[in-house]
Amino acid sequence: MKAIITGASSGLGADMARVLSKMGYDLIITARREDRLNALKEELKTNVTVIPADLGTEEGCYNFIKKIENEDFDLAINNAGFGLFGEFSSLETQKELNMIDLNIKSVHILTKHFVRYFESRGKGNILNVASSAGLMPGGPLMATYYATKAYVVSLSRGIYEELRKKKSKVKISVLCPGPVDTEFNSVAGVSFSLKGLGSYKTAEYAIKKTLSGKLIIIPGVSIKFAYILNRLAPTKLALKIAYKIQNKKGDA
Ligand SMILES: NC(=O)c1ccc[n+]([C@@H]2O[C@H](COP(=O)([O-])OP(=O)(O)OC[C@H]3O[C@@H](n4cnc5c(N)ncnc54)[C@H](OP(=O)(O)O)[C@@H]3O)[C@@H](O)[C@H]2O)c1
Repeated sequence: MKAIITGASSGLGADMARVLSKMGYDLIITARREDRLNALKEELKTNVTVIPADLGTEEGCYNFIKKIENEDFDLAINNAGFGLFGEFSSLETQKELNMIDLNIKSVHILTKHFVRYFESRGKGNILNVASSAGLMPGGPLMATYYATKAYVVSLSRGIYEELRKKKSKVKISVLCPGPVDTEFNSVAGVSFSLKGLGSYKTAEYAIKKTLSGKLIIIPGVSIKFAYILNRLAPTKLALKIAYKIQNKKGDA
């Protein structure tokens, strides 16, 4: 058994590597910080291949795909991503475009590669890491981040149905967590207004549900509840509540 994990140098990606390694999976792990990846490799008991890559560029994504060309794997996790906090009008456009490149473009390029690879193999699991942000009608003060995650949710849902219709043994899942204690908030420039879930527990839950073929994975009762409430609330009310919650994060 072998799995590929992007964004494995910290947070959820590193913990998914720990969980999978404990289950006996060999791993291919990638991110930009090679020292962190090598430290994780040292920590794990199964075989780990480290491939440093910047997935924030098309070239970086295609180079990474070339490097895994001869690899045989069963599970692929698109986890690398980051957020930016601030009013849309004040956030730097280039930083947002970099986020769109990583959160959308790289996930798109790699998901297509993984779907084609697994279809040629007849089976396999893909896990795309989105966010509860991707299930909401919009995210004031993190508008672009929420929009990137909505793309990941929508893309994954569409592919899920195409695969289901074909009775394919290729499965796709999308992880939609609320706050998780990782380096995410320091990168995004926020503090959590809700208590974050543990990263390892979230990773364990995500892997279990992915391997069972679940489409939308929402860890934690409070976020499941928030998702249901959001679906029932009128859009403008949901946006008002979202603004209040987001605004508290800015006190970082
Ligand atoms: N933590 C939360 O509250 C939360 C909630 C919902 C969803 N998520 C999602 O969960 C995923 C993992 O985030 P996290 O919470 O674990 O945060 P994290 O600790 O900051 O991890 C982000 C990972 O992405 C990698 N990455 C960033 N830019 C990259 C690039 N250009 N090329 C390749 N890798 C890159 C980072 O590695 P390098 O810096 O070494 O490249 C790191 O390994 C993200 O998609 C995030 O949006 C997080």
